[in-house]
Amino acid sequence: MVITHRAEALAVLADTRYIPPPVRQDAPEGTLAWLRSHASRFSTGEVHARRRRLLEESLDALDPDALRDAARKLTLERDGRWEGVPVTVLGHALGVLDTGRLVEAVRAAAPGYLSGEETPEADAAVRDLLTLAADAGLVRSSVALITLLLQAHDATEGLVRNALRQAGPGDAVARLLDRTLRLDPPLKVTRRMDRETGAEVRIDLVQVNRDAGAHLTFGAGVRPCPARRHAMALAEGVVAGVLGR
Ligand code: HEM
Repeated sequence: MVITHRAEALAVLADTRYIPPPVRQDAPEGTLAWLRSHASRFSTGEVHARRRRLLEESLDALDPDALRDAARKLTLERDGRWEGVPVTVLGHALGVLDTGRLVEAVRAAAPGYLSGEETPEADAAVRDLLTLAADAGLVRSSVALITLLLQAHDATEGLVRNALRQAGPGDAVARLLDRTLRLDPPLKVTRRMDRETGAEVRIDLVQVNRDAGAHLTFGAGVRPCPARRHAMALAEGVVAGVLGR
Protein backbone atom coordinates (compact mmCIF):
# COMPACT_ATOMS: atom_id res chain seq x y z
CA MET A 1 0.00 0.00 0.00
CA VAL A 2 1.24 3.49 -0.86
CA ILE A 3 0.03 6.44 1.17
CA THR A 4 -0.26 9.77 -0.62
CA HIS A 5 -2.47 11.83 1.72
CA ARG A 6 -1.27 13.76 4.72
CA ALA A 7 -4.04 12.71 7.15
CA GLU A 8 -3.47 9.00 6.41
CA ALA A 9 0.29 9.43 6.73
CA LEU A 10 -0.12 11.07 10.14
CA ALA A 11 -2.41 8.23 11.27
CA VAL A 12 0.07 5.51 10.24
CA LEU A 13 3.07 7.31 11.74
CA ALA A 14 1.27 7.68 15.09
CA ASP A 15 0.02 4.06 15.26
CA THR A 16 2.26 1.43 16.94
CA ARG A 17 0.63 -1.23 14.75
CA TYR A 18 2.95 0.07 11.99
CA ILE A 19 6.60 -0.64 12.73
CA PRO A 20 9.83 -0.15 10.79
CA PRO A 21 10.49 -3.25 8.66
CA PRO A 22 12.32 -5.60 11.09
CA VAL A 23 16.07 -6.18 10.70
CA ARG A 24 17.93 -9.42 11.41
CA GLN A 25 19.12 -9.90 14.99
CA ASP A 26 21.75 -12.65 14.52
CA ALA A 27 24.64 -10.75 12.90
CA PRO A 28 28.22 -10.99 14.23
CA GLU A 29 29.28 -8.14 16.51
CA GLY A 30 30.85 -5.14 14.78
CA THR A 31 29.15 -5.64 11.40
CA LEU A 32 26.69 -3.30 9.68
CA ALA A 33 23.82 -5.73 10.32
CA TRP A 34 24.80 -5.88 14.01
CA LEU A 35 24.75 -2.07 14.19
CA ARG A 36 21.26 -2.02 12.64
CA SER A 37 20.04 -4.57 15.17
CA HIS A 38 21.20 -2.24 17.97
CA ALA A 39 19.84 1.00 16.48
CA SER A 40 16.87 2.98 17.73
CA ARG A 41 15.81 3.51 14.10
CA PHE A 42 14.87 -0.14 13.53
CA SER A 43 13.60 -1.09 16.98
CA THR A 44 10.13 -0.91 18.51
CA GLY A 45 8.28 -0.53 21.83
CA GLU A 46 10.23 -0.14 25.07
CA VAL A 47 13.57 -0.88 23.40
CA HIS A 48 12.98 1.91 20.91
CA ALA A 49 11.96 4.34 23.66
CA ARG A 50 15.13 3.57 25.66
CA ARG A 51 17.48 3.83 22.67
CA ARG A 52 15.81 7.00 21.47
CA ARG A 53 16.29 8.66 24.89
CA LEU A 54 20.01 8.00 24.61
CA LEU A 55 20.07 9.70 21.21
CA GLU A 56 18.14 12.67 22.57
CA GLU A 57 20.62 13.03 25.43
CA SER A 58 23.52 13.17 22.95
CA LEU A 59 21.64 15.71 20.83
CA ASP A 60 20.75 17.88 23.84
CA ALA A 61 24.45 18.42 24.42
CA LEU A 62 24.80 20.02 20.97
CA ASP A 63 23.94 23.69 20.38
CA PRO A 64 22.30 24.18 16.95
CA ASP A 65 23.55 27.79 16.74
CA ALA A 66 27.13 26.62 17.24
CA LEU A 67 26.64 23.93 14.56
CA ARG A 68 25.32 26.56 12.12
CA ASP A 69 28.29 28.86 12.70
CA ALA A 70 30.82 26.04 12.44
CA ALA A 71 29.24 24.70 9.22
CA ARG A 72 29.29 28.14 7.60
CA LYS A 73 32.87 28.82 8.66
CA LEU A 74 34.18 25.46 7.43
CA THR A 75 32.34 25.82 4.10
CA LEU A 76 33.94 29.25 3.60
CA GLU A 77 37.37 27.89 4.57
CA ARG A 78 36.93 25.18 1.95
CA ASP A 79 35.94 27.71 -0.75
CA GLY A 80 32.44 26.27 -1.03
CA ARG A 81 33.49 22.61 -1.33
CA TRP A 82 30.86 21.67 1.21
CA GLU A 83 30.57 17.90 0.89
CA GLY A 84 31.55 16.26 4.15
CA VAL A 85 31.05 19.50 6.11
CA PRO A 86 27.89 18.39 8.00
CA VAL A 87 29.47 15.17 9.31
CA THR A 88 32.79 16.91 10.05
CA VAL A 89 31.03 19.56 12.16
CA LEU A 90 28.78 17.05 13.93
CA GLY A 91 31.61 14.60 14.55
CA HIS A 92 33.80 17.36 15.97
CA ALA A 93 30.98 18.51 18.27
CA LEU A 94 30.48 14.92 19.45
CA GLY A 95 34.16 14.59 20.35
CA VAL A 96 35.53 12.59 17.39
CA LEU A 97 39.17 13.48 16.83
CA ASP A 98 39.95 12.28 13.29
CA THR A 99 37.09 13.81 11.31
CA GLY A 100 38.69 13.08 7.89
CA ARG A 101 38.65 9.36 8.64
CA LEU A 102 35.15 9.75 10.09
CA VAL A 103 33.73 11.24 6.89
CA GLU A 104 35.23 8.40 4.80
CA ALA A 105 33.75 5.75 7.08
CA VAL A 106 30.33 7.41 7.31
CA ARG A 107 30.17 7.72 3.49
CA ALA A 108 30.94 4.02 3.14
CA ALA A 109 28.44 2.83 5.76
CA ALA A 110 25.49 5.25 5.39
CA PRO A 111 23.78 3.81 2.26
CA GLY A 112 23.71 0.26 3.66
CA TYR A 113 22.60 1.49 7.06
CA LEU A 114 19.23 2.50 5.65
CA SER A 115 18.87 -0.05 2.82
CA GLY A 116 20.20 -3.06 4.74
CA GLU A 117 22.58 -4.05 1.92
CA GLU A 118 25.51 -5.80 3.61
CA THR A 119 28.93 -5.46 1.92
CA PRO A 120 32.50 -6.10 3.17
CA GLU A 121 33.22 -2.38 2.65
CA ALA A 122 30.28 -1.32 4.83
CA ASP A 123 31.31 -3.81 7.54
CA ALA A 124 34.89 -2.48 7.48
CA ALA A 125 33.55 1.08 7.76
CA VAL A 126 31.43 0.15 10.80
CA ARG A 127 34.51 -1.39 12.47
CA ASP A 128 36.38 1.86 11.79
CA LEU A 129 33.52 3.91 13.23
CA LEU A 130 33.57 1.78 16.39
CA THR A 131 37.30 2.47 16.77
CA LEU A 132 36.78 6.21 16.26
CA ALA A 133 33.95 6.23 18.83
CA ALA A 134 36.09 4.32 21.34
CA ASP A 135 38.95 6.82 20.78
CA ALA A 136 36.47 9.60 21.55
CA GLY A 137 35.83 7.93 24.90
CA LEU A 138 32.26 7.03 24.03
CA VAL A 139 32.18 3.30 24.65
CA ARG A 140 28.79 3.23 26.41
CA SER A 141 26.97 5.17 23.76
CA SER A 142 29.13 4.39 20.72
CA VAL A 143 26.17 2.87 18.86
CA ALA A 144 24.14 6.03 19.53
CA LEU A 145 26.99 8.23 18.30
CA ILE A 146 27.52 6.21 15.13
CA THR A 147 23.84 5.94 14.25
CA LEU A 148 23.39 9.69 14.73
CA LEU A 149 26.16 10.34 12.23
CA LEU A 150 24.89 7.75 9.75
CA GLN A 151 21.33 9.15 9.89
CA ALA A 152 22.66 12.68 9.55
CA HIS A 153 24.85 12.18 6.51
CA ASP A 154 22.69 11.33 3.49
CA ALA A 155 19.64 13.33 4.58
CA THR A 156 21.50 16.56 5.36
CA GLU A 157 23.71 16.40 2.26
CA GLY A 158 20.61 15.58 0.19
CA LEU A 159 18.81 18.65 1.51
CA VAL A 160 21.78 20.93 0.79
CA ARG A 161 22.25 19.48 -2.72
CA ASN A 162 18.56 19.83 -3.62
CA ALA A 163 18.43 23.38 -2.22
CA LEU A 164 21.55 24.55 -4.09
CA ARG A 165 20.14 23.14 -7.34
CA GLN A 166 17.15 25.45 -7.15
CA ALA A 167 18.64 28.50 -5.42
CA GLY A 168 17.66 31.80 -7.06
CA PRO A 169 19.70 35.03 -6.75
CA GLY A 170 17.64 36.71 -4.00
CA ASP A 171 16.58 33.59 -2.08
CA ALA A 172 16.77 33.87 1.71
CA VAL A 173 18.41 30.69 3.04
CA ALA A 174 15.62 29.73 5.45
CA ARG A 175 12.93 30.15 2.78
CA LEU A 176 14.95 28.20 0.21
CA LEU A 177 15.39 25.29 2.65
CA ASP A 178 11.74 25.32 3.62
CA ARG A 179 10.63 25.16 0.01
CA THR A 180 13.10 22.35 -0.70
CA LEU A 181 11.95 20.33 2.31
CA ARG A 182 8.38 20.49 1.08
CA LEU A 183 8.82 20.04 -2.69
CA ASP A 184 12.07 18.12 -3.10
CA PRO A 185 12.71 16.28 0.19
CA PRO A 186 16.00 14.36 0.57
CA LEU A 187 14.11 11.23 1.63
CA LYS A 188 11.20 10.60 -0.71
CA VAL A 189 9.70 7.56 0.99
CA THR A 190 9.36 6.22 4.51
CA ARG A 191 8.43 2.56 5.07
CA ARG A 192 6.48 0.70 7.69
CA MET A 193 5.26 -2.85 8.16
CA ASP A 194 1.78 -3.69 9.42
CA ARG A 195 2.53 -5.80 12.51
CA GLU A 196 -0.75 -7.68 12.17
CA THR A 197 -0.69 -8.60 8.47
CA GLY A 198 2.99 -8.24 7.54
CA ALA A 199 2.01 -5.93 4.65
CA GLU A 200 4.39 -3.16 3.61
CA VAL A 201 3.18 0.44 3.82
CA ARG A 202 5.07 3.12 1.90
CA ILE A 203 4.53 6.79 2.65
CA ASP A 204 5.19 8.92 -0.42
CA LEU A 205 6.47 12.14 1.13
CA VAL A 206 6.42 14.16 -2.09
CA GLN A 207 2.71 13.50 -2.57
CA VAL A 208 1.88 13.86 1.13
CA ASN A 209 3.66 17.25 1.28
CA ARG A 210 1.36 18.58 -1.47
CA ASP A 211 -1.61 18.52 0.92
CA ALA A 212 -2.32 21.60 3.02
CA GLY A 213 -0.49 21.72 6.38
CA ALA A 214 3.10 21.46 7.53
CA HIS A 215 5.37 19.14 5.50
CA LEU A 216 6.18 15.69 6.92
CA THR A 217 9.77 15.52 5.68
CA PHE A 218 11.08 15.10 9.24
CA GLY A 219 8.50 12.42 9.99
CA ALA A 220 5.83 12.52 12.72
CA GLY A 221 4.13 10.41 15.37
CA VAL A 222 6.08 7.73 17.24
CA ARG A 223 9.52 8.35 15.71
CA PRO A 224 9.99 11.74 14.07
CA CYS A 225 13.54 12.92 13.39
CA PRO A 226 14.95 13.84 16.80
CA ALA A 227 17.50 16.16 15.21
CA ARG A 228 15.35 18.50 13.18
CA ARG A 229 16.87 21.67 14.67
CA HIS A 230 20.38 20.30 14.26
CA ALA A 231 19.72 19.29 10.65
CA MET A 232 18.33 22.72 9.81
CA ALA A 233 21.24 24.49 11.50
CA LEU A 234 23.82 22.43 9.59
CA ALA A 235 22.04 22.91 6.27
CA GLU A 236 21.56 26.66 6.86
CA GLY A 237 25.24 27.07 7.73
CA VAL A 238 26.47 25.19 4.65
CA VAL A 239 24.05 26.86 2.21
CA ALA A 240 24.86 30.32 3.63
CA GLY A 241 28.56 29.54 3.21
CA VAL A 242 28.16 28.37 -0.41
CA LEU A 243 25.90 31.29 -1.44
CA GLY A 244 28.00 33.85 0.44
CA ARG A 245 25.09 34.99 2.62
C1 HEM B 1 17.50 17.32 6.32
C2 HEM B 1 17.98 16.43 7.11
C3 HEM B 1 17.18 15.34 7.78
C4 HEM B 1 15.95 14.83 7.47
C5 HEM B 1 15.02 15.22 6.35
C6 HEM B 1 15.67 13.77 8.45
C7 HEM B 1 14.51 13.01 8.48
C8 HEM B 1 14.26 11.98 9.34
C9 HEM B 1 13.07 11.16 9.35
C10 HEM B 1 11.89 11.30 8.40
C11 HEM B 1 13.20 10.26 10.34
C12 HEM B 1 12.17 9.19 10.75
C13 HEM B 1 12.23 8.00 9.88
C14 HEM B 1 10.98 7.17 10.02
O1 HEM B 1 9.94 7.65 10.48
O2 HEM B 1 11.03 5.99 9.66
C15 HEM B 1 14.48 10.48 10.96
C16 HEM B 1 14.98 9.76 11.99
C17 HEM B 1 16.18 10.02 12.59
N1 HEM B 1 17.03 11.08 12.32
FE1 HEM B 1 16.80 12.47 10.92
N2 HEM B 1 16.72 13.70 9.31
C18 HEM B 1 17.66 14.64 8.95
C19 HEM B 1 18.84 14.91 9.56
C20 HEM B 1 19.26 14.32 10.70
C21 HEM B 1 20.44 14.69 11.46
C22 HEM B 1 21.37 15.86 11.15
C23 HEM B 1 20.54 13.81 12.48
C24 HEM B 1 21.57 13.74 13.60
C25 HEM B 1 22.24 14.77 14.06
C26 HEM B 1 19.42 12.89 12.39
C27 HEM B 1 19.16 11.85 13.26
C28 HEM B 1 18.09 10.99 13.17
C29 HEM B 1 17.94 9.81 14.01
C30 HEM B 1 18.91 9.34 15.07
C31 HEM B 1 16.74 9.20 13.65
C32 HEM B 1 16.15 7.91 14.24
C33 HEM B 1 15.15 8.27 15.34
C34 HEM B 1 14.63 7.08 16.10
O3 HEM B 1 15.30 6.06 16.10
O4 HEM B 1 13.56 7.17 16.74
N3 HEM B 1 18.65 13.25 11.32
N4 HEM B 1 15.12 11.55 10.34
